[in-house]
Amino acid sequence: MEKILLGRTNLSVSRAGLGGGGHSRLGKGYGSSFQSSVEVVKAGLDAGINFLDTASVYGTEEIVGEAIKDRRDQVVLSTKGPVVRSGSSALGDDFQPEKDFIANVENSLRNLKTDYIDVYHLHGVMPDQYDACVDRYLPILKNLQAAGKIRYIGITERFIFDPCHEMLDRALVDDFWDVVMVGFNLINPSARQTILPLTSKNNVGVLNMFAVRNVLGNPDHLMSFVEKLIAEGQTNINRSDLDSLVQDLLAATSSGMLTESAYRFCAHEPDNQVILTGTGKIGHLHENVAAIGESELPGELRQRLEVAFGHINSVSGD
Ligand SMILES: NC(=O)c1ccc[n+]([C@@H]2O[C@H](COP(=O)([O-])OP(=O)(O)OC[C@H]3O[C@@H](n4cnc5c(N)ncnc54)[C@H](OP(=O)(O)O)[C@@H]3O)[C@@H](O)[C@H]2O)c1
Repeated sequence: MEKILLGRTNLSVSRAGLGGGGHSRLGKGYGSSFQSSVEVVKAGLDAGINFLDTASVYGTEEIVGEAIKDRRDQVVLSTKGPVVRSGSSALGDDFQPEKDFIANVENSLRNLKTDYIDVYHLHGVMPDQYDACVDRYLPILKNLQAAGKIRYIGITERFIFDPCHEMLDRALVDDFWDVVMVGFNLINPSARQTILPLTSKNNVGVLNMFAVRNVLGNPDHLMSFVEKLIAEGQTNINRSDLDSLVQDLLAATSSGMLTESAYRFCAHEPDNQVILTGTGKIGHLHENVAAIGESELPGELRQRLEVAFGHINSVSGD
């Protein structure tokens, strides 16, 4: 699998990354056993993936830790810490950032069976939390970095609630973040105009989430989703153009799967670096790794996607 240097880090990472979150959480989201989730991660490593993303709230760090315990030196580990207490919508006064946050990092290290994390992110930061995050957590992250517990510092957006990337737009004015995780897919490619020029200019690593999620998992979901966008006046595509667009997205693939088009769309966006795929199924994982390594979608099809969805920044595709 093709490897690239992740932004300004010296981490050599595979173009495809395996995500331990999303709806699947490596299968844990729909009741797979611990061992079969471990097998999904091992299959990813065997397929050439070396970038693994998880988070303390996903409940999948231990799965990842078990899968990599004999090959820690071959993988790049990305995990995240929450910036709010569960159930709280803001950074409350009772929050004890230093104590709680450091305990959380120590717990991740234990779960992952390692003594360092390659990329540690602030998880799902909303625009109104950003300044407080910088004040409260950045100094802690810097101390953890100096202590060798984390190597690089990242931040992820909450794409479902911030589909126009307001938080990352603000964060990328600062030069604090080595890596960002951004939502990007064929029905909301708005990061192309806002976030990716900034990451490229400042050599910040880019992790692409939401390439498929729910809406791009199958043609029926996409059709009914876009019908809603049409009804809301968010796109000028008409019903018959939509039918032919979806048909052509399938016809352009070697697998006949919409997911192939969705991952290819992301993989060929020039400033996207690691394309995350979230799955609990080894068959899907192999399909997705193949898709990420496939050629670019035809130019004429990309142009039609641009006309239909290029301006959309209001939905995530969840
Ligand atoms: N704010 C944040 O920090 C944040 C938020 C969201 C996600 N993330 C990270 O980004 C990663 C990727 O996001 P995501 O999990 O939503 O991934 P995704 O790859 O966009 O979508 C995954 C969904 O698509 C399905 N799927 C995958 N391959 C398929 C295939 N070949 N055919 C049919 N269905 C398929 C999966 O179900 P199956 O299990 O059935 O394959 C799953 O429901 C997450 O795992 C997580 O690590 C971070």
